[in-house]
Amino acid sequence: MTSLNLRPRGFSMAYSDAGKGLPLLFVHGYPLNRRMWDPQLQGLSDVAHLLAPDLRGHGESQAVPGPYSVDLFADDLAAFLDALGIRQKIVLCGLSMGGYIVFAFYRKYAARLAGLILTATRAAADTPQARLARDQSTELARQQGVNAIVEAMLPKLLAPVTSQTRPELVEQTRQIMATTSLEALLGDLVALKERPDSTPTLAEIQIPTLLLPGAADQIIPFQEAQAMHAAIRGSVLEVIPQAGHLPNLENPAAFNAAVRLFLNHLKPTEML
Ligand code: MLT
Repeated sequence: MTSLNLRPRGFSMAYSDAGKGLPLLFVHGYPLNRRMWDPQLQGLSDVAHLLAPDLRGHGESQAVPGPYSVDLFADDLAAFLDALGIRQKIVLCGLSMGGYIVFAFYRKYAARLAGLILTATRAAADTPQARLARDQSTELARQQGVNAIVEAMLPKLLAPVTSQTRPELVEQTRQIMATTSLEALLGDLVALKERPDSTPTLAEIQIPTLLLPGAADQIIPFQEAQAMHAAIRGSVLEVIPQAGHLPNLENPAAFNAAVRLFLNHLKPTEML
């Protein structure tokens, strides 16, 4: 796995790159960064060309002030692919906020997509209660900084079994979140709060789609993925056991096996 940098939209964007073949682009969640995809970059480099950027402001990408939106992130990703000279169709994989961005990307750039992988995410917009919670998080972040958000989120991010038995993974997740800039965190909160309802998009999805919720997700219950499965024609649902909101990190073996199978079943014509 190589760490590289590009400047496709006037700010420097860091990304990890591994493998060859069909491009598989990973989009991280809030308030995370590309390091959350390390188990995929390590475990799947024999099946695809894996790309995992840090979204603007996150990880090692430049801290750019918000507000952000899911459409803005989708445009960043399209510009990122252009800068890499990738014209063939890609598979797009998003976790949670990354999934909200996948829906925005689908609405704008469907012709660039060969398949979707949606993990620990939902189609619906924020409820009024969730919007209120975004405002409270914004206030907390402004007053007490990024770490206050990290500590508030951490107990809910991982499955109880993960938190109880894998202190090293809890610490790793904390470290990943702690590198998020305040600009990105505040920008994300606007993107999350203002994102549109993607439920109408589900019926429009015409490409192979894999849904990978965590069985013990305390932030987005796996029933959300069951509802998406019912609405996306031909989609495949696999609930990842022993995993909460970060199934790819908590159970990389099951996650990677499901992705590998999905990629192997993509027909060559779907990639043209
Ligand atoms: C995420 O992991 O990206 C967030 O939990 C998404 C959200 O809060 O809706």
